[in-house]
Amino acid sequence: MNSSTYKKLVAKRFAQNFKSAIEIIELPIPKPTPDEIIIRNKFAGVNAGFDTLICRGDVSYINLTPPFDLGVEAVGEVIAAGENVKDFQIGEAALTTVRGGGYREYQAINASLAFKVREATPEILTLMPTGVSALVALEQVGEMKSQEVVLVTAAAGGTGHIAVQLAKLAGNHVIGTCGSDAKAHLLKDLGCDRIINYRTENLNQVLQEEYPNGVNLVFECVGRQVFDTCVDNLAVRGRLVVIGFVSEYGNNFEPVTQPRIYQKLFWKAASVRGFLMPMYKEYMVEARDRLFHLFDSKKIKVAIDPTEFQGIESIPTAVEHLLSGRNCGKVVVMF
Ligand SMILES: NC(=O)c1ccc[n+]([C@@H]2O[C@H](COP(=O)([O-])OP(=O)(O)OC[C@H]3O[C@@H](n4cnc5c(N)ncnc54)[C@H](OP(=O)(O)O)[C@@H]3O)[C@@H](O)[C@H]2O)c1
Repeated sequence: MNSSTYKKLVAKRFAQNFKSAIEIIELPIPKPTPDEIIIRNKFAGVNAGFDTLICRGDVSYINLTPPFDLGVEAVGEVIAAGENVKDFQIGEAALTTVRGGGYREYQAINASLAFKVREATPEILTLMPTGVSALVALEQVGEMKSQEVVLVTAAAGGTGHIAVQLAKLAGNHVIGTCGSDAKAHLLKDLGCDRIINYRTENLNQVLQEEYPNGVNLVFECVGRQVFDTCVDNLAVRGRLVVIGFVSEYGNNFEPVTQPRIYQKLFWKAASVRGFLMPMYKEYMVEARDRLFHLFDSKKIKVAIDPTEFQGIESIPTAVEHLLSGRNCGKVVVMF
């Protein structure tokens, strides 16, 4: 690559897995139009589930035909600004959450769609939009209260570890599931009350024995058997928020034949609710400001997965790393 070009990742075709769908292409670094800024991306967040599903053509609310750009959130440095741009100076840090803006070394974006941040760090990138998703899902969809039992699955992941802390801050008893001792250690550090390493303990058995009145709010990221167990253990008027179903992203969706779910929900007046951040956009700004304040005042911590991914070429490996379940904290790629 020479200094006047940059690399980005595009989905060239739909394919069953991310790696088979993508290609790296090289383009000239753009010049800004009057309302645009040019950002040199420093870090991009990896959302392996969304990345895989979009490359399979399985994201039903987005109608895309390849080729299309990939990646979502990025944080970086403003290197050029159009003549109408008043809100950004060259050298300032900017965060963006526009689909297609993440997996690329440079991006041109209308300045009104970028958000000025103090520093281009992976922690700040994790707060927005990952942390914001956790906050909006818990409060707006899960109707989070205090002094309830809250269960977070994939609790040591990028989204889960923020959800754990927010549920604790709201004054709840928080159960977190995870799959390794290192993740259990992180959850302990974050104040999780009951940590269930599902490789050494059975989730259903723990819930049945230790939480006979059930779980009031479930932040459910995993799917399959974990989802079924969570539904079975909902309290009266319990709410289960479907955040995602990461156990299904690397595979074909599992067909299920069993009694309809209303059989389980009705007698407890419980509910299962879907959450999708783009459909709750109106809550983003307030949630972002509140989260940044919580982070600045050291009321919440951000965990970044220690495995380093450097450059556009590393993105497919980062996606596989997350889908393999090995990550602890948010997976980011550095450019
Ligand atoms: N709805 C929305 O708008 C929205 C926004 C952001 C994220 N999400 C969803 O939130 C969930 C977490 O996403 P994330 O990006 O923050 O990922 P992540 O939690 O950082 O990583 C995924 C984690 O899932 C856990 N997992 C459990 N069973 C798994 C299995 N069978 N295969 C693979 N992983 C398994 C693994 O941890 P353990 O083994 O320790 O459990 C793994 O580390 C995903 O479902 C994602 O789609 C949804």
